[in-house]
Amino acid sequence: MKVYITRKIQSKAIKYLREKGFKVSIYPEDKPIPKKVLLKNIKNVDALIPLLTDKIDKQVIDKMTKCKIIANYAVGYENIDVEYAKTKSIIVTNTPDVLTDSTADLAMTLALACCRRITESRKLIDDKKFTHWRPNLLLGYEIKDKIFGIIGAGRIGEATAKRAHAFGAKIIYNSISENKRMKNDFNAERVSLNKLLNISDFISIHVPSNKQTVHLLNKENLKLLKPTSILINTSRGNIIEEKALVEILKKGKIFSAGLDVFEHEPKIHPELLKMVNVILAPHIGSATIEARTAMAMLAAKNVVSVLKTGNKPITPV
Ligand code: DGY
Repeated sequence: MKVYITRKIQSKAIKYLREKGFKVSIYPEDKPIPKKVLLKNIKNVDALIPLLTDKIDKQVIDKMTKCKIIANYAVGYENIDVEYAKTKSIIVTNTPDVLTDSTADLAMTLALACCRRITESRKLIDDKKFTHWRPNLLLGYEIKDKIFGIIGAGRIGEATAKRAHAFGAKIIYNSISENKRMKNDFNAERVSLNKLLNISDFISIHVPSNKQTVHLLNKENLKLLKPTSILINTSRGNIIEEKALVEILKKGKIFSAGLDVFEHEPKIHPELLKMVNVILAPHIGSATIEARTAMAMLAAKNVVSVLKTGNKPITPV
């Protein structure tokens, strides 16, 4: 049976698939596969392992007449037309859990880098302005005793809450349903989105991108943020109306932002690039050796499970 992988993922997973007897083909370049090349290579595949940068739309799905499973190498799956795949009896899987800790670690990394003004610190040194110790140089904020607002209390939101709670923050969250562990483990209160935006010192976004969440933070409600607040996004760029965020940053209406994802990724709003109080990262939430290896293995195991052991995906979406 044939598997097509749209990029060279961790070799352990490729080896595993080959040991299981699959013929594995891989797009050899380390950049998104052009649609034309994708369409040319997937005609006879039994399984496809795409990346979040590959749009698996109706045209792609129609081309894969033998395909039984699309095993996304990501927890987010907005790149795949899941409903259409379902009509073709193609199973879609993703990679939850295995990247939870790495992404929550990054959310905290950005929160800490923002509140301790790490980019500004580095710039001051690069600009040769570190001439002497100063009592008021680059003062930031501590996390202890601050209100840490989590938007989306799924796995990653909860793991971020756990970290912020360990730093001594008071946790509040907004989520479509109640998460009892947030209350039991972190004494977290569930509040409306507007209240969260209005009272949080730190705001960390952990909702998936879908029709309900695009521009969840927008021109209107971003106005509610405090001038001292810090906004972190490790989820998807289009959850925030980026233009509106740029405006409030430019006007000094919030303290800083830590962004791992962007609305028009990989393009970054030119104004964001100029701001020293904005920490930027190139979508590296799951970029640890542990997480990426586990993501590759989980995608591969989903393929094996569906094709060899009778239609039972491990992590269906
Ligand atoms: C995902 O899995 O959705 C992340 O954004 C990339 O790891």
